[in-house]
Amino acid sequence: MAIRDRKLDHLRIALSKDVQFKEKTTWFEKVLLEYRCLPEIDLSDVNLETEFLGKKLRAPIIVSGMVGGIEEAKKINKDIAKACEALGIGFGLGSQRAMLEDAKVSDTYYVRDVAPSIFVAGNIGVTQLKDYSIEQIEEALQAVQADALAIHLNAAQEAVQPEGTTNFKGCLKEIARVASKLSKPVYVKEVGHGISYAVAKELAKTDIKAIDVQGAGGTSWVAIEALRAGKSISKELWDFGIPTASSIAECRKVFKGPIIASGGIRSGIDAVKAFVLGADLIGIALPVLKAQQEAGSKGVQKYLEKIIEEMRIGLFLIGAKTPKEASGRGRLYL
Ligand SMILES: Cc1cc2nc3c(=O)[nH]c(=O)nc-3n(C[C@H](O)[C@H](O)[C@H](O)COP(=O)(O)O)c2cc1C
Repeated sequence: MAIRDRKLDHLRIALSKDVQFKEKTTWFEKVLLEYRCLPEIDLSDVNLETEFLGKKLRAPIIVSGMVGGIEEAKKINKDIAKACEALGIGFGLGSQRAMLEDAKVSDTYYVRDVAPSIFVAGNIGVTQLKDYSIEQIEEALQAVQADALAIHLNAAQEAVQPEGTTNFKGCLKEIARVASKLSKPVYVKEVGHGISYAVAKELAKTDIKAIDVQGAGGTSWVAIEALRAGKSISKELWDFGIPTASSIAECRKVFKGPIIASGGIRSGIDAVKAFVLGADLIGIALPVLKAQQEAGSKGVQKYLEKIIEEMRIGLFLIGAKTPKEASGRGRLYL
């Protein structure tokens, strides 16, 4: 099936069906914040400004990569990126494979006309890396004026996708190759099933600059692919993966660079819990897409403003002036 038809299926299914994990959660409900009823700071002291891979963000948020390569993506990407520009936060593009295969669809990814200043991440799947030279990847990033490349790791998705690329042999070497040679910083992201301690330990030996955990508890890509294929799968497979809170804690143990907490982040308080576990930023995908569908760029901005306001309040209530100061002010109770 052509990449574009598949992308359209993904978009339609994500928007029309319940594609969240069924029973498994992010485990954020197991993270207890150390409430300080004497925070000894002023709410107005809370400063969310964060630097990520050389760019300043006004709040520590990146909208995770979703669409590109199909006509529908043009408005979605521009609406979301415009809201990100207004808020001074980061924005991720969907997989650029479609434009690497056919340069004519590059315009469905281009957002610099509405988002000239923010951090923008390009995106490519880990199993595709071997198909492209460094020059081709550089060109794809240049065409959208991206600041960095996010490589997505999606073994669970590919395993359930009928036409999935299931040969993951040599992927770590490919990540190391691209991260060491590309002129832009490279980071890795899962797509909703999490990154473990063991994988983070291997990734830490490469030149990647950040890890975006995209853990379990939010959107399940196993679910999207099973629904698309009309496959009956077990609840256990639907819910496969490492809960986001656990994935953050595991990655933090071995990875010294920035960690993006993502996969099922649904409130500013989830974000504060992620900071407590050692994350530096958060990522959100599906709820932002839904806000865009309901009310365009303004809807996205309103949705994210609420997250930011609650993040500010949450930090105040644990007496932390910055996301960094939140680290350790609470813990994961198992
Ligand atoms: C419609 C849709 C398309 C997506 N496409 C991509 C993609 O092309 N590349 C990628 O790295 N992740 C992709 N993702 C995964 C998200 O970036 C994110 O990892 C996942 O949805 C979990 O976050 P959430 O629980 O906040 O939705 C997509 C997600 C959605 C909902």
